[in-house]
Amino acid sequence: MKIFQTVGEVQSFSSSIQQSGLRLALIPTMGALHEGHLRLVDEAHRYAEKVMVSIFVNPTQFGPNEDFSRYPRTLEADLAALSERGVSGVFTPSVGEMYPPNDQTWVRVEGLDTHLCGPFRPGHFQGVTTVVARLFLACRPHVAVFGLKDAQQFLILRRMVRDLHFGIEMVGMATVREPDGLAMSSRNRYLNEVDRKKASVISKAVFLGRGLIAGGEQDPATVENAMREVMESAGGVSVQYAEVVDTEQLQRPVQLQPETDYLVAVAAYIGQTRLIDNQFVSVRNL
Ligand code: PAF
Repeated sequence: MKIFQTVGEVQSFSSSIQQSGLRLALIPTMGALHEGHLRLVDEAHRYAEKVMVSIFVNPTQFGPNEDFSRYPRTLEADLAALSERGVSGVFTPSVGEMYPPNDQTWVRVEGLDTHLCGPFRPGHFQGVTTVVARLFLACRPHVAVFGLKDAQQFLILRRMVRDLHFGIEMVGMATVREPDGLAMSSRNRYLNEVDRKKASVISKAVFLGRGLIAGGEQDPATVENAMREVMESAGGVSVQYAEVVDTEQLQRPVQLQPETDYLVAVAAYIGQTRLIDNQFVSVRNL
C-alpha cells in the first residue's frame, strides 16, 4: 500500500493506473475509520481493480463552534486497517497541500442545502463540495464510494459531479449499523456509556418515519412529529431537526404522494454529541 502526501504524487499514481487500463475507486474520508468505512472499501473492490482512500480532516467544512480540533485522528490504526483490506493507495495531504496559500476557489451546489443539516451548519456543504472536487482532481478516480449515513452530502456531491461533468460514477452504500441500530460514525466514540445507550433512539426514529410513509401516511408533519417524539422520549436528547424531504431538490413536500421517493432524516444532540441518521423511502433506484 502506497502513501501519498502531495497532489503531484497521487496524480502520477492515478495516471499509471489509467495507463495500465485498470479502474480506480476513491473513498474520501476524514479518518478515524470504523467498520462502516471498511465496508466501503469492500464495496469499492466490486467496482474497480484498484482502491484508494483519502484521509483528510477538512477544516472548511467545520463551523467555528464545531469539533475540528478534537475530531479523532488515528492515522496509524487507519493505515493498518486499510492495508489489511487490500487498499492500493492512501492520500493523506496536509491542509496547505489541499488549500495552497492565497487560494480563492470554492465549489458550491445551490439550493440543496436549505433543509436538513444546511441551516444548522452554514458553509458546511460548500466546504465538503470544495474539498471533494479537489480530491477528485487530485486522485482522478473512475468511481467514488460514499456512505449514505450522510445522505444529504451524497445527493449534493452527486449533483456536483453531474453539473461539472466530472465523469465519475457515484456509488452510495447503505449505512452500516451497530446491533442496536445505531449508525456507525466516527463521532460515536464521543458518547459516554449512558449516552451510548440512549443513542439507539435516533435510528428508531428514522425507521418509524420510513414505516409510516411506507404504510401510506400522507402528512409530512405527522411523520416528523412521530420521529421527534420517539427521540424526545429517551430524555436528554435534544432534537435539532426531524424532516421529510424529496430526494431530488431536498425540499419538504406539502403532502406525501404515492410512488414518490422521500428521505426521512434527523439530527439530535445526545449530551454534547451531534448525531444524524436517515432512511430512504424509495420506489426507484437512487
Ligand atoms: O463524509 C466525510 O467524511 C467528509 O465529509 C468527506 C466526504 C470526506 C469530505 O471531507
